Amino acid sequence: MTSRLLLFVLLVASCSLAMAADPSPLQDFCVADPNEHLFVNGEFCKDPALVVADDFFFSGLDVMGDTNNAVGSNVTAVTVVQLPGLNTLGISLARIDFAPGGINPPHTHPRASEILTVIEGTLEVGFVTSNPENRLIARKLQRGDVFVFPQGLIHFQSNIGDCNAVAIAGLGSQNPGVITIANAVFGSNPDIDENILARAFQVGVDVVRQIQANF
Ligand SMILES: *[C@@H]1O[C@H](CO)[C@@H](O)[C@H](O)[C@H]1NC(C)=O
Repeated sequence: MTSRLLLFVLLVASCSLAMAADPSPLQDFCVADPNEHLFVNGEFCKDPALVVADDFFFSGLDVMGDTNNAVGSNVTAVTVVQLPGLNTLGISLARIDFAPGGINPPHTHPRASEILTVIEGTLEVGFVTSNPENRLIARKLQRGDVFVFPQGLIHFQSNIGDCNAVAIAGLGSQNPGVITIANAVFGSNPDIDENILARAFQVGVDVVRQIQANF
């Protein structure tokens, strides 16, 4: 009896490990139906008889994003929002453009690992392991190089070349989500109490206010 119980517990544990990415589809496809407004985990399926090729199609990833902004980068995402056929498939894509010196600032995807390939330029990329280790794992990437950022870990990319850089990232979720650390911590609405941030970052409240003003 006890060993059966143990087996059951192990089975349940291994199932929850296997669910670390988006759940597997239970049909060929489930094209997201934008006309349904009930809230479910994912999107409702469009009637399969009405599905057309364009439901699985997106165009425009050849177009450079505008990098004329504070960080000098631009992410063009192709998730279930832009491509309804991705619903339930557990994958998505992004094009990332970098001006010289531009960065994709430290951020995390709560629901996806990311595999990135450099199409043009030279990037310095890295991620930090979880607490308490906080080890930085980083390296330089050239055109054609591929790097993987494990799910949930804080990571970044920086264009260290003299020209524009372009990367394509595949993500293990139809809706990976993004938490940009600086924006989330210093630009939340309403603000996190400045005394909390001053204590957390071990600086004066004046420094916290200065950073908050930028977000
Ligand atoms: C990214 O590029 C698109 C297309 O040029 C533009 O509409 C958007 O505002 C840009 N985003 C940022 C954050 O600069």
